[in-house]
Amino acid sequence: MSDYNFPKIRHKLEDALSEKRYEHTLGVAVTARMLARIHGVDDEAAYAAGLLHDCAKNLSAKERIHMCNKAGVEVTQLEIDNPELLHAKAGAILAAKEYDIKDQDILNAISSHTTGRPGMSELEKIVFVADYIEPGRDERPGLKELRAEAFRDLDGCVLHILDTTLKYLGDTAKAIDPATRETYDYYNGIAH
Ligand SMILES: [Fe+2]
Ligand SMILES: [Fe+2]
Repeated sequence: MSDYNFPKIRHKLEDALSEKRYEHTLGVAVTARMLARIHGVDDEAAYAAGLLHDCAKNLSAKERIHMCNKAGVEVTQLEIDNPELLHAKAGAILAAKEYDIKDQDILNAISSHTTGRPGMSELEKIVFVADYIEPGRDERPGLKELRAEAFRDLDGCVLHILDTTLKYLGDTAKAIDPATRETYDYYNGIAH
């Protein structure tokens, strides 16, 4: 018997998210479960975290900020200016409140899935990576190699995704959350 009522969670998410986002969610959940099996992590927790990682995507900027404030979660000026970034922190709060998730590791994986964070657990790394490599993601240079690396070397894959993300954000002049840079520095440090 599973700890989670997956049909109920999926049904609720299907109502809450756009069709495209829901498809992405299923892709991340299945990818996270596969990675968990390979890397010796609780695969049901990985599937749950994958399903719920974007559960706050449909909320407005105002709702995300309000939700974080109410829960006492710190919101930075950068996040107020780019509330898109906040769907991860708000998602962890929503997963606990609306989807009855109590496992702190799952909540952390939801909260850190966009930027990563230094010293992520194996589950957090898996969700971070699965979000990037799930099968529905558009093909782009290097993605094939990242997909293969994810199953072989999780830390290496985390570092390469962060490297790619920082380069992409730098090229497009999009806001870079300092957490992404901090995570990159951390994983670059342990890779050498
Ligand atoms: Fe996301
Ligand atoms: Fe996502």
